[in-house]
Parts: sequence; structure tokens; C-alpha cells
Amino acid sequence: MSEPADAGQVGHDFDPDDPAGLADPEGLYGGLRERCPVAHSASYGGFWAVTRYRDVQRVMRDPAAFSSAQGIVIPRNPASGRRPPLHYDPPEHTAYRTVISPLFRRERLGWLAPALTALAESLVAGLPAATELYGDFCSPYAARVVCLLLNIPGDLAGEFAARMDAFEDAQRRRDLPVIEAENQSLYGLCREVAARRLAEPFDPADDMLSALLAARVDGKPLSTETAAGSLRQIVVAGHGAPALALASAALHLARDAALQAALRAGPALVPSFVEEMLRLHTPNVGFARTTTRPARIGGRDIPAGQPVAVVLPAANQDPEIFGHPGDLDLTRRERHLAFGDGPHVCPGAVPGRGLLVAGVRALLRRAPFALAGDVTFSPWPTAGPTRLPLRLAAAGELAGEPAGEPGRDRT
Ligand code: HEM
Repeated sequence: MSEPADAGQVGHDFDPDDPAGLADPEGLYGGLRERCPVAHSASYGGFWAVTRYRDVQRVMRDPAAFSSAQGIVIPRNPASGRRPPLHYDPPEHTAYRTVISPLFRRERLGWLAPALTALAESLVAGLPAATELYGDFCSPYAARVVCLLLNIPGDLAGEFAARMDAFEDAQRRRDLPVIEAENQSLYGLCREVAARRLAEPFDPADDMLSALLAARVDGKPLSTETAAGSLRQIVVAGHGAPALALASAALHLARDAALQAALRAGPALVPSFVEEMLRLHTPNVGFARTTTRPARIGGRDIPAGQPVAVVLPAANQDPEIFGHPGDLDLTRRERHLAFGDGPHVCPGAVPGRGLLVAGVRALLRRAPFALAGDVTFSPWPTAGPTRLPLRLAAAGELAGEPAGEPGRDRT
């Protein structure tokens, strides 16, 4: 990292691709938060990075000054279209959220927790003792949950899962032609689902796509293409972050046998553990906005038209908000920003949390587990393991607990 620039001067304060940041985002972005809280990077055509909790909140809560319309992630995908809801600003954005948000409310999702438990347990029961957990469980499980939430037809679910994986893998490798090809494949699948819903609509109160197709924005229905584009965006938004967050939680546990034992003995603690995992290992690093006018933030002047990343992992360990921010504290009450803030705050937080809680509990029930090889981490703009070799103990190896068949030891 070069010396921080003086207020107002544009320098190269940090490199988002510094390898140190992959395994330890707090080391890289936390250091920035302390020394240069609004930093400029010359990478990806130049952008600003906001790292303090209150500054991140300010950016995310002020869409008039910090717009989502030019793209919401750094680096931008030049081939990306503009899709609701992520790429729209209020008031246009509000019309879509009014359609999407109710479908993810807790009271509509009473069926979800038992379905997630059954799904997670069946997938975990099938894991080999030597497993690569991201590919064998975290990613396919998150994909199945998204398909369940969005009523993706069973005959298309496997293809959806494969395409999501390939799309995200290409993004991590920054392989633009493959990103675009996989994006088109996902679009094609979403168009197919939209065509089926048009032919045979579901109850819009229970089905995202039927709700989008039934919606009126400024008195007009959405085009099928816009509804399919929105579905494509929700599919991608709902897969990558939970898959990475679950892998981070598993890695954290793999490194701490005593914590595994404590949570296995007290599964009621798992929801608090999941909150701390989202805070300590926040999966989305580089969500972004663009300044619509000159802005002064954290003592720096940012001209109009500049990309600004909100570095959520750094905000989530800001000592101004969180006491002993690096410690896992299951009694913590402060609100972390892993789900964002402001008008775009994640509408999928209820199912996202449910997915993580059920996934962690299923892993804990199956057997103790330990790290069994080198971990590969996702590069900016996301964080978390994308290759996670684990060894799952045989039931008899579980010290202090009676041996039983995997998945049978209900607590
Ligand atoms: C661990 C789980 C998850 C995390 C950490 C997470 C994180 C986030 C964050 C930080 C945003 C804000 C983006 C921005 O401000 O530009 C967001 C938006 C969004 N998320 Fe999630 N998410 C999770 C799970 C889900 C799930 C399961 C779904 C749905 C299936 C979902 C659907 C969405 C959608 C549609 C948006 C866009 C909202 C808008 O633009 O108004 N997310 N998510």
C-alpha cells in the first residue's frame, strides 16, 4: 500500500487484489479503515473505498447522492445490463421492492425452516469423509435453496445450479467472455421460467415471478424480458453470498474444535453464531455506488461521477461500533451491515439467515470436522473460501459423545 493521499488528493492508497486481502480481508481493509478511511485505488479504472461503519451507512442510505444506476459492483461488468431492483434508484426502485419484499417476509416463509433442515441434512448425509465442502455442499445447497424460494421447476433446477456456479467461477477468474456466455445461459433459463409462468401463472402472493409479471409500474405491466431479468438478478444475488458465508462459517469451525463442541451441545446458539460469521466474514466486499454530485466524506472530496465501493467487512469490524470487533461474541447486539443498508438492504435476509443456520446445524450434527488441505479464497469483490478441503470424522471419533449413525444424533 502506498502512503495515503492528503485530503482531496487522488492517489493509489490500496490494491484490492493484494493477495493478503484474500484470506484476511480485515487485515487489508481494517488497516485502511484506521489509516485512510476513504481510500482511493487506481485499480479497475479508479475507485474510492469507504471503510468506516457510519460512512458506509451514509453512502447506502443516500441514493440521491450515491446512485446504483451505473452498476453496483467494482469492477463493473461492461456487458452487464440494467436490471431491477439492484440497478435502480428510488423512486423507480421502490416499485420493484414493493413487489419483491413481501414474498421474503418471515410470515410468508413458515414452510421454509423445516424444508431447509431436511435439505441440508440430506445433502450433508451424502458427503464423503474427505470432502471439498464449497463444491460438495455450500454452493449446491445454496443453489437448491434459491430454486426452492423462486419456484424454479425441478427439471431446470440442476441446470440453474450448474450455470450459477460457472458464472461465479468466471467472475472470480475475471474471464469476460465466459461471464457473458454464462450470463446469457442464466438469462435463457429465466426466460424459459417466465414463459412457463405466463402460460400457467402461480399465485402472485407465493411466487416471485408471477408477482413480477402481475405487477404494474406507473400503471403498466413489466415486459416479460424485464421480469426475466429481475429473476436472473435475484437468482445470482441469492446464491453467491450465502454459499461463501456458509463456507466461511465452516472454515471458522474447522479451525476451532472447542467451538464446534459448544455449538453441538447448544444448537440454540447457532443463530447468534451465524450473525457473528456474517459480521466477521462478510461475503460481499465491493458493492458500489456512483456519486451523482461532488461529495465530501471522511475528509475527502469525491468528484461527481466517481465509483465508490462500500467495504462492508471493514465497516463490520469498526471499533467505533463494535467492542473488541475481532472477537466472536455470541451476546453481541449491534447491527452488522452484511445485508447492506438503505433502500437496497437485502430483501433475502430471512431466507439467507435460515439457510446458514440450517446448513451449520446439519454440519455439526453429522460429525466433528477439521481442515484437510489448502484453502482457496474468492478475490475482491467477494470474500470466503471457494475450495475448502475438510475431513469429517467417523461417528466413533467424536470424543465424549456416543457413536451413532451420521445425521441421527438429534439434539
Ligand atoms: C448470506 C446471505 C446474504 C447476504 C450476506 C446478502 C447480502 C446482500 C447485500 C449486502 C445486498 C445489498 C446490495 C446493494 O446495496 O447494492 C443485497 C441485496 C439483495 N439481495 Fe441479498 N444477501 C444474502 C442472501 C440473499 C438471498 C437468499 C436472496 C434471495 C433469494 C437475496 C436477494 C437479494 C436481492 C434481490 C437484493 C437486491 C435488493 C435491491 O436492490 O433492492 N439475498 N444482499
